[in-house]
Amino acid sequence: PRTPSLEIDGKCYVTDDWTNVPSSILSYLPHKLQLQPSHPVSITRQVIESNFPSPTYTHYNDLHPIVTVAENFDSLGFPRDHPGRSRTDTYYINKDTVLRTHTSAHEAEIFRRNKSEGFTISADVYRRDAIDRSHYPVFHQMEGARMWDRRKVPGGDVAKAVRTDFERLPKHSLSIEDPNPTTHAERNPRQAEHHSPKEVEAIAAHLKRSLEGVVVELFSRARKAAIAAGHVDANALEPLRARWTEAYFPFTSPSWELEVFWQGDWLEVLGCGVTKQDVLINAGVPDQIGWAFGVGLERVAMLLFSIPDIRLFWSKDPRFLNQFSSKENVNTFVPFSKYPECYKDVSFWLRSSSSSTGGGMRSNAQDFHENDVMEVVREVGSDLVEDVRLVDNFQHPVSGRKSLCYRINYRSLERTLRNEEVNQLHDSVRKQLVEKLGAELR
Ligand code: PHE
Repeated sequence: PRTPSLEIDGKCYVTDDWTNVPSSILSYLPHKLQLQPSHPVSITRQVIESNFPSPTYTHYNDLHPIVTVAENFDSLGFPRDHPGRSRTDTYYINKDTVLRTHTSAHEAEIFRRNKSEGFTISADVYRRDAIDRSHYPVFHQMEGARMWDRRKVPGGDVAKAVRTDFERLPKHSLSIEDPNPTTHAERNPRQAEHHSPKEVEAIAAHLKRSLEGVVVELFSRARKAAIAAGHVDANALEPLRARWTEAYFPFTSPSWELEVFWQGDWLEVLGCGVTKQDVLINAGVPDQIGWAFGVGLERVAMLLFSIPDIRLFWSKDPRFLNQFSSKENVNTFVPFSKYPECYKDVSFWLRSSSSSTGGGMRSNAQDFHENDVMEVVREVGSDLVEDVRLVDNFQHPVSGRKSLCYRINYRSLERTLRNEEVNQLHDSVRKQLVEKLGAELR
């Protein structure tokens, strides 16, 4: 008998118990929004890239989205039991192969190729997730990294070389809050066996100034666009504000997030840190040290262009696509219309466990993950669903069975949906919940 397999981009992949990637998700692979010249995802990429000029930085924008579990997780030091590895969060082609969940999946490979002192990688990434206006199973990230080679810097003094380069970086008119010391012994430690305190200070300073430059580049444009659209009063402007907070990633230490104050709220814009030396050692470049960052492009593009719904990035409607031109010309998106919404609820019991252990009153709620409901809804409703929310959650006092009620908001971005159409979609969702998840409708 033939081994079950999947053909993707002319390559054949064996499938197994881990395979969970639907064909609807694979259909996104050819789009490469980061490469479409006047698409807002691409414009956002270009604005950020302009802060990381070649030849210091090489820009990789067409790396293939199918990577190994080793590349996506192991090479970056993700622990065996990290939740990101689970089939509820990640699309598996088979047990060893995934759709990359982040651009960091390529760090080791690019470190190994080591063409220049720095690089950026912009690419589509894939995650099983909730349905709402800011989440989509496919989105785009940009990774950036900068390295120094201990063998190549003058006198082997990395800290000094980093400092010298730091002095050349443009200074910015940005009001920055950075209240914490560079390292924290427990939460944000220096990699003491590899980096001296001086090296960490120098790399952190270089990283922070480089990324503050990105924020100025992005948000001064976003501001200009918002003023031109009359969303913001030019006379009431305060200086742009950003702040550094401690963060955690398995592949950097110390790590930070950069937040920006935008229209009354602090927004997390990117994650970054000093690259773990083990990542570089395992990539075969033990003499390199440096920093890395990752930023979500849709998240930034939504602010930059005032785009209210992440589904719009996939729209082929010229009323959307024709509103964007180039990075020199960032303008606020003018929504074409807000079409009516239509809420429908679905309530169901989770399948109860047949193998009754112990008291025999266990439901297999342990097997259930909300992302499975989300996937059923996406498969049926595609881009006609704006969001899905859990509105009720109930456990039967005697049987112990669990009942859930989800509220699905059907709304097209491009037209008014007909009543029968929504009813049909909703009927299909109900049927699929039974077929695919073994739900018992109430
Ligand atoms: N890959 C991380 C994420 O997806 C972001 C990151 C990249 C953090 C590089 C630190 C360094 O959340």
